[in-house]
Amino acid sequence: MKGLRIGFPAVVVAAVLLMLSAELVPEVAAMRFIAGGNKGWTKNVNYKSWAKGKHFYLGDWIFFVYDRNKMSVLEVSRGDYERCIARRPLHNWSNGAGRDVVPLNVTKTYYFISGNGFCYKGMKLAIHVEKRHQH
Ligand SMILES: *[C@@H]1O[C@H](CO)[C@@H](O)[C@H](O)[C@H]1NC(C)=O
Ligand SMILES: *[C@@H]1O[C@H](CO)[C@@H](O)[C@H](O)[C@H]1NC(C)=O
Repeated sequence: MKGLRIGFPAVVVAAVLLMLSAELVPEVAAMRFIAGGNKGWTKNVNYKSWAKGKHFYLGDWIFFVYDRNKMSVLEVSRGDYERCIARRPLHNWSNGAGRDVVPLNVTKTYYFISGNGFCYKGMKLAIHVEKRHQH
């Protein structure tokens, strides 16, 4: 009797846990990258080397930490990224706090630069976002 009473809920709990873990797999796999790693988003960092060899998948996030009084996070076109043109961003991700999170929710190449001329000092980052492979 007692065994049955405990047994039934245990099965239900196990089933719910299984369902939850199946749901959570994609969430757990999502990565939050910090642009530039421990150097953050600042001048004289080689963001090409930082991004090299990393895989950015749909659903990942990129976090920019920087001096809000000087730098910014602007998403621009490829041409504007190459020429460091900051006056017509596709998206201004700067929220004023110097800590911006960009959800990588489109499979494309994102081009980020900083305004105030810092792009010329190396603050430019291209991130190619891929679809996560399903197994
Ligand atoms: C981007 O937004 C920040 C804060 O909201 C603002 O100070 C800055 O002027 C904007 N930059 C551009 C290029 O729109
Ligand atoms: C991606 O996220 C941005 C910012 O939250 C949002 O404006 C945009 O609509 C989203 N795009 C898609 C395809 O979900």
